[in-house]
Amino acid sequence: MDDVTQTIGFIGSGHIGGTLARLATAAGFDVVMSNSRGPETLADLVAELGPRARAATASDAAAAGDLVVVSVPLRAYREVPVEALAGKPVMDTNNYYPQRDGQIASLDDGSTTSSELLQRHLPASSVVKVFNNIFFKHLATLARPAGAPDRTALPIAGDEAAAKEAVTAFLDAIGYDAVDARPAGRRRSTIPGGHARVRTPLRTVHRAGRNTRRRRHHPGRARRGLTPCAARKLVRPKLPGDTR
Ligand SMILES: NC(=O)c1ccc[n+]([C@@H]2O[C@H](COP(=O)([O-])OP(=O)(O)OC[C@H]3O[C@@H](n4cnc5c(N)ncnc54)[C@H](OP(=O)(O)O)[C@@H]3O)[C@@H](O)[C@H]2O)c1
Repeated sequence: MDDVTQTIGFIGSGHIGGTLARLATAAGFDVVMSNSRGPETLADLVAELGPRARAATASDAAAAGDLVVVSVPLRAYREVPVEALAGKPVMDTNNYYPQRDGQIASLDDGSTTSSELLQRHLPASSVVKVFNNIFFKHLATLARPAGAPDRTALPIAGDEAAAKEAVTAFLDAIGYDAVDARPAGRRRSTIPGGHARVRTPLRTVHRAGRNTRRRRHHPGRARRGLTPCAARKLVRPKLPGDTR
């Protein structure tokens, strides 16, 4: 782990939040978990996570985290605490599924992205999109030590370099490489329905793209990981004359 990030706060402790908390505690981080129903409902998870974990309200988890994961159904993004997250890097795992979240017009018409919505809700925080395109079960099993030839690279997208550095360090600590996809505002490549071109389903940079239609009907499916080198090639912008 880096010298700065010691505690990870969790707004949302479900499939993704819980999985990340397991990886984080295994890597030596303290975690503070929260959900919508109150800390007492997280007793089993906290017991499983061990002495590095505790449960709190969402505001307290946000305040406690050096780095905070927001992993809730997108419809709840306006309930994410604002003040307590000011000045902090926020890892945004959220995806938009209208059948679950209800229709959000600005996402339906493509005028914004789910990360931009969260960033606008958290104007004093630095939102970094990450973990939104890997199935939680794969997130649990694909973690590898640094340098492992089969280590998976995950795309990150955000506007602030310092926040992306903190997120990259966190990914590295829990078993993943990071690939800087592009600023969050222009990043539609890793969202469900994103237009990014994905050539191969071999091993991922886990990302939604070409196979989005299938993914929408089977949102639990994810591809296996790419090497970091291949990943960088996949996420670079398409250039004039590029025949990929
Ligand atoms: N599942 C995956 O494999 C996967 C992969 C990539 C991205 N995602 C995205 O990541 C997000 C989380 O997915 P998930 O599968 O982890 O969902 P999940 O298992 O349903 O967990 C959602 C968590 O959010 C909490 N929550 C809901 N409203 C909240 C609020 N207002 N304040 C605080 N916590 C709140 C829930 O608490 P309660 O249970 O108390 O309501 C629960 O702990 C979603 O946007 C999803 O689309 C999921």
